[in-house]
Amino acid sequence: MKKILITGALGQIGSELVTKLRALYGNNNVIATDIRRNESAAVLSGPFEILDVVDGDSMLKLAKKYEVDTIMHLAAMLSAVAEKKPLAAWNLNMGGLVNALEVSKELGLKLFTPSSIGAFGPSTPKDQTPQVTIQRPTSMYGVNKVAGELLCDYYFNKFGVDTRSVRFPGLISYVAPPGGGTTDYAVEIYYSAIEKGYYSSFIDKGTYMDMMYMPDALEAVVQLMEADPAKLKNRNAYNITAMSFDPEEIGNEIRKHIPKFKLEYTVDPGRQAIADSWPNSIDPSAAQRDWGFTAKYDLKKMTTDMLEKISRKVQV
Ligand SMILES: NC(=O)c1ccc[n+]([C@@H]2O[C@H](COP(=O)([O-])OP(=O)(O)OC[C@H]3O[C@@H](n4cnc5c(N)ncnc54)[C@H](O)[C@@H]3O)[C@@H](O)[C@H]2O)c1
Repeated sequence: MKKILITGALGQIGSELVTKLRALYGNNNVIATDIRRNESAAVLSGPFEILDVVDGDSMLKLAKKYEVDTIMHLAAMLSAVAEKKPLAAWNLNMGGLVNALEVSKELGLKLFTPSSIGAFGPSTPKDQTPQVTIQRPTSMYGVNKVAGELLCDYYFNKFGVDTRSVRFPGLISYVAPPGGGTTDYAVEIYYSAIEKGYYSSFIDKGTYMDMMYMPDALEAVVQLMEADPAKLKNRNAYNITAMSFDPEEIGNEIRKHIPKFKLEYTVDPGRQAIADSWPNSIDPSAAQRDWGFTAKYDLKKMTTDMLEKISRKVQV
């Protein structure tokens, strides 16, 4: 990996991935793109271009212009938003991915694109969900992720495109806000605890989902992309996770730092239904075996860091 083009680079993941990759590979070797522009480090610290991922010709032109060897395709509509606009989600999530696959095929590029725990559904085994198992999701986001995984397999087997992917769990971070996913409560809760001393969760107590702190997620991307291709048995997506908790457990951990923190519930039926269809915990052993990934942050370590970083951020 020497020169990388990132789509959807101003989102929750991209905002931090661009900074990490620029530190590792050089500022000019990481081309950040998005459909919008802002004043963040991703725009100001290196090359930035406006790119709508459903425009395949423009994606191809940019990949040629910068002579990239890798695409990291992040632009997508997330689960909760996709459920409100299913057709738009299909067009963006599938249209963007097909373009990234086609450009990778034509120019012989490596391609990273994330799948999600949303690629599982109610008939999937709920605990320690295996790497290879039933995938019949009931959300449009999940349908897109399964179709995307199958497309990655197809382009690898049929055309030799070097496709690599992980099924990200809910990602928790403090740099850029989350983009409308079902696990967003686990980010909001930290801000609300610091700013208001209470949080009303849209996900109910007892709902367990896999989660990961952003530094581990970024490390996973780099490790997977640098892994020996011969060792990668799964070209659709690898299960990865760091922890599984429900709102009560994260609330209890926050209370160790903010004893008066109050957790209430205003459950959102739409997002709760999506959460209920996802696993309680997934088995990440294939990622460990094939490319050596192990997360470093657990709930305790993440909570300490999140509260410290957000306290500093909201003071400024
Ligand atoms: N964040 C998570 O918890 C999580 C979990 C699992 C999987 N994922 C996956 O990771 C990827 C990135 O997620 P994220 O959380 O950074 O998303 P996000 O919603 O925070 O960011 C998406 C970015 O894509 C951009 N975008 C939207 N439409 C576009 C278009 N037509 N062309 C170009 N850019 C466009 C948006 O402006 C935004 O900056 C997605 O595929 C998502 O499904 C995320």
